[in-house]
Amino acid sequence: MLTATKLAIETTGLVKTFGSTHAVDGLDLAVPLGGVYGVLGPNGAGKTTAIRMLATLLPLDGGTATVLGHDVASEPDAVRSKVSLTGQFASLDEDLTGTENLLLLGRLYGYSRAAARTRSEQLLSAFGLEEAGNRQVKNYSGGMRRRLDIAASIIVTPEMIFLDEPTTGLDPRSRNQVWEIVRALVAGGTTVLLTTQYLDEADQLADRVAVIDHGKVIAEGTTGELKASVGSGALHVRVTDVATRPAAAALLREILEVPVVEEADPAALTARIDDPKRVSRALPALDDAGIAVSTFALGQPSLDEVFLSLTGRPTEEHAS
Ligand SMILES: Nc1ncnc2c1ncn2[C@@H]1O[C@H](COP(=O)(O)OP(=O)(O)O)[C@@H](O)[C@H]1O
Ligand SMILES: [Mg+2]
Repeated sequence: MLTATKLAIETTGLVKTFGSTHAVDGLDLAVPLGGVYGVLGPNGAGKTTAIRMLATLLPLDGGTATVLGHDVASEPDAVRSKVSLTGQFASLDEDLTGTENLLLLGRLYGYSRAAARTRSEQLLSAFGLEEAGNRQVKNYSGGMRRRLDIAASIIVTPEMIFLDEPTTGLDPRSRNQVWEIVRALVAGGTTVLLTTQYLDEADQLADRVAVIDHGKVIAEGTTGELKASVGSGALHVRVTDVATRPAAAALLREILEVPVVEEADPAALTARIDDPKRVSRALPALDDAGIAVSTFALGQPSLDEVFLSLTGRPTEEHAS
Protein backbone atom coordinates (compact mmCIF):
# COMPACT_ATOMS: atom_id res chain seq x y z
CA MET A 1 0.00 0.00 0.00
CA LEU A 2 1.35 3.41 -0.97
CA THR A 3 0.72 6.21 1.44
CA ALA A 4 2.18 9.52 2.45
CA THR A 5 1.99 8.65 6.13
CA LYS A 6 4.99 6.87 7.55
CA LEU A 7 4.01 3.42 8.72
CA ALA A 8 5.22 1.78 11.93
CA ILE A 9 4.29 -1.67 10.64
CA GLU A 10 3.44 -2.91 7.21
CA THR A 11 2.69 -6.53 6.42
CA THR A 12 1.60 -8.07 3.16
CA GLY A 13 0.30 -11.59 2.89
CA LEU A 14 1.83 -12.67 6.19
CA VAL A 15 1.54 -16.44 6.68
CA LYS A 16 2.27 -18.88 9.49
CA THR A 17 1.13 -22.46 9.54
CA PHE A 18 1.49 -25.05 12.29
CA GLY A 19 0.89 -28.42 10.64
CA SER A 20 -2.58 -28.09 9.18
CA THR A 21 -3.47 -24.97 11.22
CA HIS A 22 -3.34 -21.73 9.24
CA ALA A 23 -2.65 -19.57 12.28
CA VAL A 24 -1.88 -16.48 10.19
CA ASP A 25 -3.26 -16.72 6.70
CA GLY A 26 -2.43 -13.78 4.48
CA LEU A 27 -2.46 -10.94 6.98
CA ASP A 28 -2.22 -7.39 5.61
CA LEU A 29 -1.63 -4.65 8.15
CA ALA A 30 -0.74 -0.98 7.79
CA VAL A 31 -0.11 0.51 11.23
CA PRO A 32 0.54 4.26 11.35
CA LEU A 33 3.35 5.70 13.42
CA GLY A 34 2.25 7.06 16.81
CA GLY A 35 -0.77 6.22 18.94
CA VAL A 36 -2.37 2.85 19.59
CA TYR A 37 -3.29 0.38 16.88
CA GLY A 38 -5.62 -2.39 18.01
CA VAL A 39 -5.66 -5.94 16.71
CA LEU A 40 -9.02 -7.23 17.78
CA GLY A 41 -10.10 -10.82 17.53
CA PRO A 42 -11.37 -13.82 19.46
CA ASN A 43 -9.22 -16.51 20.98
CA GLY A 44 -7.33 -18.43 18.30
CA ALA A 45 -7.65 -15.68 15.65
CA GLY A 46 -3.86 -15.55 15.20
CA LYS A 47 -3.03 -12.41 17.19
CA THR A 48 -0.16 -13.82 19.22
CA THR A 49 1.32 -15.66 16.25
CA ALA A 50 1.30 -12.44 14.19
CA ILE A 51 2.91 -10.47 17.01
CA ARG A 52 5.57 -13.13 17.50
CA MET A 53 6.50 -12.90 13.83
CA LEU A 54 6.63 -9.11 13.99
CA ALA A 55 8.83 -9.35 17.07
CA THR A 56 11.17 -11.73 15.16
CA LEU A 57 10.46 -14.58 17.58
CA LEU A 58 8.94 -16.78 14.88
CA PRO A 59 10.08 -17.13 11.27
CA LEU A 60 7.63 -16.16 8.50
CA ASP A 61 6.21 -18.91 6.32
CA GLY A 62 5.11 -16.40 3.71
CA GLY A 63 4.62 -12.71 2.96
CA THR A 64 6.66 -9.76 4.13
CA ALA A 65 6.69 -7.55 7.19
CA THR A 66 8.52 -4.37 8.08
CA VAL A 67 8.63 -2.85 11.55
CA LEU A 68 9.83 0.77 11.83
CA GLY A 69 11.19 0.45 8.32
CA HIS A 70 13.15 -2.76 8.95
CA ASP A 71 12.37 -6.06 7.32
CA VAL A 72 11.70 -8.62 10.06
CA ALA A 73 13.25 -11.47 8.06
CA SER A 74 16.42 -9.78 6.82
CA GLU A 75 17.02 -7.22 9.61
CA PRO A 76 15.84 -8.93 12.79
CA ASP A 77 18.48 -7.28 14.98
CA ALA A 78 17.38 -3.79 13.93
CA VAL A 79 13.77 -4.70 14.76
CA ARG A 80 14.71 -6.17 18.13
CA SER A 81 16.69 -3.10 19.08
CA LYS A 82 13.64 -0.87 18.56
CA VAL A 83 10.71 -2.94 19.73
CA SER A 84 9.58 -4.12 23.11
CA LEU A 85 7.23 -7.01 23.71
CA THR A 86 5.15 -7.91 26.71
CA GLY A 87 2.50 -10.49 27.19
CA GLN A 88 2.86 -14.17 27.41
CA PHE A 89 6.60 -13.83 26.83
CA ALA A 90 7.86 -11.41 29.46
CA SER A 91 10.86 -12.89 31.15
CA LEU A 92 10.50 -11.87 34.76
CA ASP A 93 12.19 -14.04 37.36
CA GLU A 94 9.47 -15.22 39.73
CA ASP A 95 11.88 -15.71 42.61
CA LEU A 96 13.23 -12.17 42.46
CA THR A 97 11.44 -9.12 43.82
CA GLY A 98 9.98 -6.50 41.51
CA THR A 99 12.86 -4.17 42.26
CA GLU A 100 15.47 -6.87 41.67
CA ASN A 101 13.93 -7.73 38.30
CA LEU A 102 13.98 -4.12 37.16
CA LEU A 103 17.53 -3.58 38.42
CA LEU A 104 18.73 -6.68 36.63
CA LEU A 105 17.08 -5.67 33.37
CA GLY A 106 18.37 -2.10 33.73
CA ARG A 107 21.91 -3.43 34.07
CA LEU A 108 21.36 -5.69 31.04
CA TYR A 109 20.35 -2.62 29.06
CA GLY A 110 23.64 -0.99 30.02
CA TYR A 111 22.56 1.36 32.79
CA SER A 112 25.05 2.06 35.58
CA ARG A 113 24.07 0.67 38.98
CA ALA A 114 22.85 4.12 40.09
CA ALA A 115 20.95 4.80 36.87
CA ALA A 116 19.29 1.37 37.02
CA ARG A 117 18.25 2.10 40.61
CA THR A 118 16.76 5.48 39.60
CA ARG A 119 14.89 4.05 36.61
CA SER A 120 13.56 1.16 38.66
CA GLU A 121 12.26 3.53 41.34
CA GLN A 122 10.65 5.75 38.70
CA LEU A 123 8.86 2.83 37.11
CA LEU A 124 7.69 1.25 40.37
CA SER A 125 6.27 4.57 41.44
CA ALA A 126 4.67 5.32 38.06
CA PHE A 127 2.97 1.92 38.06
CA GLY A 128 1.86 2.02 41.70
CA LEU A 129 4.21 -0.78 42.72
CA GLU A 130 6.37 0.97 45.35
CA GLU A 131 5.08 -1.26 48.13
CA ALA A 132 5.27 -4.39 46.04
CA GLY A 133 8.82 -3.66 44.93
CA ASN A 134 10.31 -5.66 47.76
CA ARG A 135 8.11 -8.69 47.32
CA GLN A 136 8.89 -11.73 45.17
CA VAL A 137 7.07 -11.64 41.85
CA LYS A 138 5.51 -15.06 42.46
CA ASN A 139 3.43 -13.45 45.20
CA TYR A 140 2.04 -10.70 42.95
CA SER A 141 -1.61 -10.48 41.99
CA GLY A 142 -2.49 -10.74 38.29
CA GLY A 143 -2.85 -6.99 37.97
CA MET A 144 0.46 -6.25 39.69
CA ARG A 145 2.21 -8.82 37.57
CA ARG A 146 0.83 -7.32 34.36
CA ARG A 147 1.97 -3.84 35.40
CA LEU A 148 5.44 -5.10 36.25
CA ASP A 149 5.57 -6.87 32.86
CA ILE A 150 4.97 -3.56 31.14
CA ALA A 151 7.40 -1.70 33.41
CA ALA A 152 10.07 -4.28 32.61
CA SER A 153 9.55 -3.81 28.90
CA ILE A 154 9.95 -0.02 28.96
CA ILE A 155 13.11 0.27 31.05
CA VAL A 156 14.50 1.90 27.96
CA THR A 157 11.68 3.86 26.31
CA PRO A 158 10.98 1.88 23.14
CA GLU A 159 9.92 3.39 19.83
CA MET A 160 7.34 0.66 19.58
CA ILE A 161 5.80 -1.77 22.00
CA PHE A 162 3.68 -4.86 21.40
CA LEU A 163 1.16 -5.48 24.15
CA ASP A 164 -0.40 -8.91 23.75
CA GLU A 165 -3.75 -8.98 25.57
CA PRO A 166 -2.39 -6.93 28.47
CA THR A 167 -5.69 -6.90 30.36
CA THR A 168 -7.17 -10.34 29.70
CA GLY A 169 -8.28 -11.82 33.02
CA LEU A 170 -7.78 -8.64 35.03
CA ASP A 171 -10.38 -7.09 37.32
CA PRO A 172 -11.80 -3.71 36.22
CA ARG A 173 -9.54 -1.67 38.50
CA SER A 174 -6.34 -3.34 37.29
CA ARG A 175 -7.59 -3.03 33.74
CA ASN A 176 -7.96 0.72 34.20
CA GLN A 177 -4.44 0.95 35.59
CA VAL A 178 -3.06 -0.80 32.53
CA TRP A 179 -5.06 1.54 30.29
CA GLU A 180 -3.49 4.52 32.05
CA ILE A 181 -0.05 3.04 31.44
CA VAL A 182 -0.80 2.58 27.75
CA ARG A 183 -1.93 6.21 27.50
CA ALA A 184 1.27 7.33 29.24
CA LEU A 185 3.37 5.32 26.77
CA VAL A 186 1.64 6.99 23.85
CA ALA A 187 2.11 10.42 25.42
CA GLY A 188 5.81 9.59 25.65
CA GLY A 189 5.93 9.00 21.90
CA THR A 190 5.83 5.19 21.79
CA THR A 191 3.74 3.52 19.09
CA VAL A 192 1.64 0.76 20.67
CA LEU A 193 0.39 -2.36 18.92
CA LEU A 194 -2.23 -3.82 21.23
CA THR A 195 -4.07 -7.09 20.84
CA THR A 196 -7.35 -7.56 22.62
CA GLN A 197 -10.50 -9.64 22.67
CA TYR A 198 -12.55 -6.67 23.87
CA LEU A 199 -14.15 -4.05 21.67
CA ASP A 200 -14.53 -1.73 24.64
CA GLU A 201 -10.80 -1.88 25.31
CA ALA A 202 -10.03 -1.05 21.68
CA ASP A 203 -12.61 1.70 21.98
CA GLN A 204 -10.87 3.19 25.02
CA LEU A 205 -7.36 3.04 23.61
CA ALA A 206 -7.02 2.45 19.91
CA ASP A 207 -7.05 5.05 17.16
CA ARG A 208 -7.73 2.36 14.59
CA VAL A 209 -8.28 -1.37 14.74
CA ALA A 210 -7.99 -4.39 12.51
CA VAL A 211 -10.48 -7.14 13.31
CA ILE A 212 -8.92 -10.51 12.61
CA ASP A 213 -10.42 -13.93 12.23
CA HIS A 214 -8.71 -17.14 11.09
CA GLY A 215 -5.48 -15.23 10.53
CA LYS A 216 -6.96 -12.62 8.19
CA VAL A 217 -8.14 -9.04 8.50
CA ILE A 218 -11.92 -9.02 8.11
CA ALA A 219 -12.48 -5.32 8.91
CA GLU A 220 -10.37 -2.24 9.51
CA GLY A 221 -11.20 1.22 10.75
CA THR A 222 -11.98 3.19 13.87
CA THR A 223 -14.04 1.48 16.56
CA GLY A 224 -16.80 3.97 15.75
CA GLU A 225 -16.89 2.67 12.20
CA LEU A 226 -16.99 -0.94 13.41
CA LYS A 227 -19.83 -0.24 15.80
CA ALA A 228 -21.74 1.62 13.14
CA SER A 229 -21.56 -1.52 11.00
CA VAL A 230 -23.53 -3.31 13.71
CA GLY A 231 -26.26 -0.77 14.32
CA SER A 232 -26.87 2.05 16.70
CA GLY A 233 -26.62 0.14 19.92
CA ALA A 234 -27.12 -3.05 21.77
CA LEU A 235 -29.42 -4.45 24.40
CA HIS A 236 -27.62 -6.28 27.20
CA VAL A 237 -29.67 -8.68 29.29
CA ARG A 238 -28.65 -10.98 32.12
CA VAL A 239 -31.13 -13.53 33.36
CA THR A 240 -31.22 -14.36 37.04
CA ASP A 241 -31.46 -18.11 36.38
CA VAL A 242 -29.16 -19.37 33.59
CA ALA A 243 -31.63 -22.16 32.84
CA THR A 244 -34.05 -19.55 31.52
CA ARG A 245 -31.59 -18.07 29.02
CA PRO A 246 -32.69 -20.13 25.99
CA ALA A 247 -36.31 -19.11 26.54
CA ALA A 248 -35.28 -15.49 27.04
CA ALA A 249 -33.24 -15.58 23.83
CA ALA A 250 -36.16 -17.02 21.86
CA LEU A 251 -38.55 -14.45 23.23
CA LEU A 252 -36.20 -11.55 22.46
CA ARG A 253 -35.66 -12.81 18.92
CA GLU A 254 -39.40 -12.88 18.42
CA ILE A 255 -40.04 -9.41 19.80
CA LEU A 256 -36.98 -7.58 18.49
CA GLU A 257 -36.75 -9.43 15.17
CA VAL A 258 -32.94 -9.22 15.23
CA PRO A 259 -30.20 -11.77 16.04
CA VAL A 260 -29.72 -12.39 19.76
CA VAL A 261 -26.25 -13.47 20.84
CA GLU A 262 -25.69 -15.84 23.75
CA GLU A 263 -22.52 -14.47 25.34
CA ALA A 264 -19.74 -16.46 27.04
CA ASP A 265 -21.25 -15.44 30.37
CA PRO A 266 -23.99 -18.13 30.68
CA ALA A 267 -26.52 -15.62 31.97
CA ALA A 268 -25.90 -12.95 29.34
CA LEU A 269 -27.61 -12.13 26.07
CA THR A 270 -27.10 -9.24 23.72
CA ALA A 271 -29.14 -8.07 20.79
CA ARG A 272 -28.62 -5.46 18.16
CA ILE A 273 -31.06 -2.59 18.44
CA ASP A 274 -32.62 -1.22 15.32
CA ASP A 275 -35.93 -0.08 16.74
CA PRO A 276 -35.94 1.27 20.31
CA LYS A 277 -39.74 0.96 20.48
CA ARG A 278 -39.49 -2.80 20.37
CA VAL A 279 -37.10 -2.73 23.32
CA SER A 280 -39.72 -1.20 25.55
CA ARG A 281 -41.94 -4.20 24.84
CA ALA A 282 -39.24 -6.71 25.69
CA LEU A 283 -39.03 -6.23 29.44
CA PRO A 284 -42.76 -6.72 30.15
CA ALA A 285 -42.78 -9.73 27.83
CA LEU A 286 -39.93 -11.36 29.75
CA ASP A 287 -41.79 -10.63 32.96
CA ASP A 288 -45.01 -12.14 31.62
CA ALA A 289 -43.09 -15.27 30.66
CA GLY A 290 -41.80 -15.57 34.23
CA ILE A 291 -38.18 -14.87 33.27
CA ALA A 292 -36.40 -12.79 35.92
CA VAL A 293 -33.61 -10.51 34.74
CA SER A 294 -30.81 -8.93 36.76
CA THR A 295 -29.65 -6.58 33.97
CA PHE A 296 -31.59 -4.95 31.18
CA ALA A 297 -29.52 -2.18 29.65
CA LEU A 298 -28.92 -0.38 26.39
CA GLY A 299 -25.30 0.14 25.49
CA GLN A 300 -22.63 -0.28 22.89
CA PRO A 301 -22.19 -3.46 20.90
CA SER A 302 -19.62 -6.02 22.06
CA LEU A 303 -16.95 -7.69 19.95
CA ASP A 304 -19.29 -10.68 19.72
CA GLU A 305 -21.92 -8.56 18.04
CA VAL A 306 -19.44 -6.90 15.70
CA PHE A 307 -18.24 -10.37 14.84
CA LEU A 308 -21.68 -11.74 14.22
CA SER A 309 -22.41 -8.80 11.99
CA LEU A 310 -19.15 -9.20 10.02
CA THR A 311 -19.08 -12.97 9.70
CA GLY A 312 -22.63 -14.11 10.24
CA ARG A 313 -21.49 -16.35 13.08
CA PRO A 314 -20.59 -15.80 16.74
CA THR A 315 -16.96 -15.80 17.88
CA GLU A 316 -16.00 -19.48 17.98
CA GLU A 317 -15.23 -19.44 21.64
CA HIS A 318 -18.88 -18.80 22.26
CA ALA A 319 -20.38 -20.99 19.60
CA SER A 320 -21.95 -24.06 21.12
N1 LIG B 1 3.10 -23.35 18.52
C1 LIG B 1 1.94 -23.71 17.98
N2 LIG B 1 1.75 -24.96 17.50
C2 LIG B 1 0.57 -25.33 16.96
N3 LIG B 1 -0.50 -24.53 16.83
C3 LIG B 1 -0.38 -23.27 17.29
C4 LIG B 1 0.82 -22.79 17.89
N4 LIG B 1 0.65 -21.49 18.23
C5 LIG B 1 -0.62 -21.18 17.87
N5 LIG B 1 -1.25 -22.24 17.31
C6 LIG B 1 -2.61 -22.25 16.76
O1 LIG B 1 -2.70 -21.16 15.86
C7 LIG B 1 -3.97 -20.52 15.99
C8 LIG B 1 -3.77 -19.07 16.35
O2 LIG B 1 -3.27 -18.99 17.66
P1 LIG B 1 -2.84 -17.63 18.36
O3 LIG B 1 -1.95 -16.88 17.44
O4 LIG B 1 -2.32 -17.97 19.70
O5 LIG B 1 -4.24 -16.87 18.46
P2 LIG B 1 -4.69 -15.69 19.45
O6 LIG B 1 -3.46 -15.08 20.03
O7 LIG B 1 -5.47 -14.76 18.56
O8 LIG B 1 -5.57 -16.32 20.48
C9 LIG B 1 -4.75 -21.32 17.01
O9 LIG B 1 -5.53 -22.25 16.31
C10 LIG B 1 -3.68 -22.00 17.81
O10 LIG B 1 -4.15 -23.20 18.37
MG1 LIG C 1 -2.93 -14.77 22.05
